[in-house]
Amino acid sequence: MADIRNIVILTGAGISAESGIDTFRDAGGLWEQHRVEDVATPEAFARDPDLVLRFYDMRREAIQTKAPNPAHRALARLDREWEGGLLIVTQNVDDLHERAGAERVLHMHGEHLNAWCTACDTRSRWTGPLIDRPDCPTCGEPCLRPDIVWFGEMPYRMEDIYAAMRGAHLFVSIGTSGAVYPAAGFVRDARSLGAKTLELNLERSQRSGWFDETRLGPASELVPSWVDEVLSQQN
Ligand code: APR
Repeated sequence: MADIRNIVILTGAGISAESGIDTFRDAGGLWEQHRVEDVATPEAFARDPDLVLRFYDMRREAIQTKAPNPAHRALARLDREWEGGLLIVTQNVDDLHERAGAERVLHMHGEHLNAWCTACDTRSRWTGPLIDRPDCPTCGEPCLRPDIVWFGEMPYRMEDIYAAMRGAHLFVSIGTSGAVYPAAGFVRDARSLGAKTLELNLERSQRSGWFDETRLGPASELVPSWVDEVLSQQN
């Protein structure tokens, strides 16, 4: 730990599970309830925009009733107290890292609480529904879509993520199944760039074999104790 200064953290749906937000691939998860092809691709949106908008309207409404859990709060504490470099790259589209107080957060798969105007390419904070085709607050066109990276679209800010990875001494993955690229490949890239790698997950993931160390358990327990450990080495 003594030689660790820059940390990159990747979070996935598992960190928000104990806040009551469904994961995607656990039993009963979102992709058991809905077909990806029906709600999470640009083709689905072109084919049946009402279905897609209704799906995301429900999810946007639901996340606003949820609260950060001890894992989000522990990462927010790390963000406040860690004097070295830190980037929390999240695949999650909820805002629980921010509501817990974390600031060094990058949403690579977009955000539920943003709407993206396909007419003027601006993003606006959006907490209500999109199903009635509201006008874009910037250009006035009724062309808003969820600001979510769908399958087949390019995740956001990959250059910033790899810039942080190049300087990272430690890469930590929390609550993600490692099923979706490019995030699933970060551990391998972090390793080849020289970082130590740690996985915190409820169960072994598809990528567990690629990590130097895997700790199994609920994020609400594993993350606070790991953060205590890291911060105690700093002091
Ligand atoms: N604590 C820690 N880990 C947990 C917990 C918990 N309480 N509950 C579940 N997990 C773990 C599961 O064991 C699983 O490995 O979290 C992981 C969740 O995996 P997924 O549902 O596949 O979610 P994620 O990895 O974030 O999905 C990646 O897929 O559909 C897309 O865009 C979507 O960003 C998402 C991406």
